[in-house]
Amino acid sequence: MTVKERYFISQKDCHKREEIIMCGIVGYNGKNSVTDLLLDSLELLEYRGYDSAGLATMNANTGKVKLRKCAGRVKDLRKICAKDKKISTCGIGHTRWATHGGVSDLNAHPHRVGDVLLVHNGIVENYEELKDHFMLHKDLKSQTDTEVVAAVLNRFYQGDPHEAIRKTVKYLKGTFALVIMFTDQPDVIYAIRNVSPIVAAYNDNGTMLASDVVALGATADKYMVVPEYVIMELHKDEIKLFDLNDKPVEADMIDIDWDTTRGGKGKYPFYMEKEIMEQPDALRATMQSRVVNGKIDLSADGVPDEILKDCERVCVVACGTAMHAGLVAKALVQSKLGMHMNVEYASEFMYSDPVIDEKTLVLAISQSGETIDTLEALKYARKKGAKSVAVINVKGSSIARESDYVMYTVAGPEIAVASTKAYTTQLMALFLLVGRMAKVRGIFDDATEKAYLDSLTKAPDKMQEVLDQKHDIHKIAREMLDAKDAFMIGRGLDYSILLEGALKLKEISYIHTEAYASGELKHGTIALITENTPVVATVTQSKLKEKELSNIREVQSRGASVVVFVKEDFDLADAEYADVFELPAMEDEFMVFPASAALQLLAYYVSMDKGLDVDKPRNLAKVVTVE
Ligand code: G6P
Repeated sequence: MTVKERYFISQKDCHKREEIIMCGIVGYNGKNSVTDLLLDSLELLEYRGYDSAGLATMNANTGKVKLRKCAGRVKDLRKICAKDKKISTCGIGHTRWATHGGVSDLNAHPHRVGDVLLVHNGIVENYEELKDHFMLHKDLKSQTDTEVVAAVLNRFYQGDPHEAIRKTVKYLKGTFALVIMFTDQPDVIYAIRNVSPIVAAYNDNGTMLASDVVALGATADKYMVVPEYVIMELHKDEIKLFDLNDKPVEADMIDIDWDTTRGGKGKYPFYMEKEIMEQPDALRATMQSRVVNGKIDLSADGVPDEILKDCERVCVVACGTAMHAGLVAKALVQSKLGMHMNVEYASEFMYSDPVIDEKTLVLAISQSGETIDTLEALKYARKKGAKSVAVINVKGSSIARESDYVMYTVAGPEIAVASTKAYTTQLMALFLLVGRMAKVRGIFDDATEKAYLDSLTKAPDKMQEVLDQKHDIHKIAREMLDAKDAFMIGRGLDYSILLEGALKLKEISYIHTEAYASGELKHGTIALITENTPVVATVTQSKLKEKELSNIREVQSRGASVVVFVKEDFDLADAEYADVFELPAMEDEFMVFPASAALQLLAYYVSMDKGLDVDKPRNLAKVVTVE
């Protein structure tokens, strides 16, 4: 049964589930005191969920276990842990995100049943069945699927951890990353996974595992992605892997070339601002290895020219911000290559009966590389014979492994839930891909390729110019703090840019914001424009400018208060605007870079000035591993 089929089955039970669906997990075994180390790592994983947190630590000499957990953030757990002066050097931790209720101390991880301590990321779909099958009801205190798994493990545990794990996972349907301590095995942490990620690393001081490489922090320079259905043992001085027949397994080590988390937020109050500011460097880094002798060269990514040359249609599957990057690529593919391109929400892809065959090139775009909808859409397209290139930020992630080829963006870790530098580096990778396609398809000659690359090379500097004027955008943001609703209007590429701008504003400021194709307003939505409704417009495309200005006038005449982000060499005529911000000029199709920086800053300052938790907006998680 596929993951997808299992999800469909599980949906029948959704109403009765107290479910944990996306979480961050960590484990450490080494020479250092474990509590602060785990708490620090959990904080870096809070983007995956932050409604409850917990730790279990074990004293390697006495085998004594301490379990501390609570509803709330890691900072609340830290307060509880501060009272504890005992030093342990082995432990596991968890930060939770629940969607089906059940935010409580009891439902927080780790769960303990008998000899077993367990943290879990994923969904065990058949947990109700397992409860009945193993008659576990008396063993359980919480409403979670995780505690059921702990109870099954405990049933099977007769002193042999591998045997208990092997027997347990045979019964599990769903996705899981399980990290386990057995109270009579004080020196070892065990883990096993299916779909949900676990990465691991070691150095001279110990071994560590986590849901995401960002949480490995400064532990190591290399990490491994733990293969699925492999039992991992985390000892103080080594990591051992075994297949389900107990044969040793090797995993490739991948370089950690990210060091930005090590400095935390630096001088910025929020990760989001830091990440916005990092964009020019991230764009340059994403471009660097792909421009050789003044030409676009994707050979380091291993993307063969043939698939770019021979494909007859292009299709993007992605979610959220990544999907918006796909929309920009669509404009480019259609204008530069004259090819039809589909951009689909990955979650809708399979239901749209997409036309996919071996002549289709599928682009799967994802920061995390773990979004399950994107992963499933990619698998579906590949089954139909499509070739695939994934544009991914996290090395070794599930989508990267599933795709035929990968172009990694070099954004570094993105911690804020609202995506910024991941988006613009995705754009950079896509511009390079389309540029190479144009070349191998004979559309670009050397001179046009050079002109295209010259413009692209300027994108980081133009973006920097906007970032240097952040205080002007802050002033504009102050005027929007009381808004309940806002609109963002534009046509063509401006509309695509604004879809992302509106997503940023709504997700972190909680102002209901709609991006609207400005020509479409008059067919209904303009009814919502009243006195002082804030409207943000971008005017960056020469061929659309006049029409966009006339749409702006339409909303102004209904009383809207319009802020315009305009390409600096465009004349706005004599109309009055609430505010005007001039964007540094580039060729039209590249204006997405400076315009995006401006809209990101706008959203950021509105959220910050409203006193909201910019990096961790309510109800949202950064990595969405459920459909
Ligand atoms: C979540 C995040 C978004 C992101 C989307 C897709 O909803 O909050 O910021 O755009 O997932 O994530 P991906 O990792 O696939 O780019």
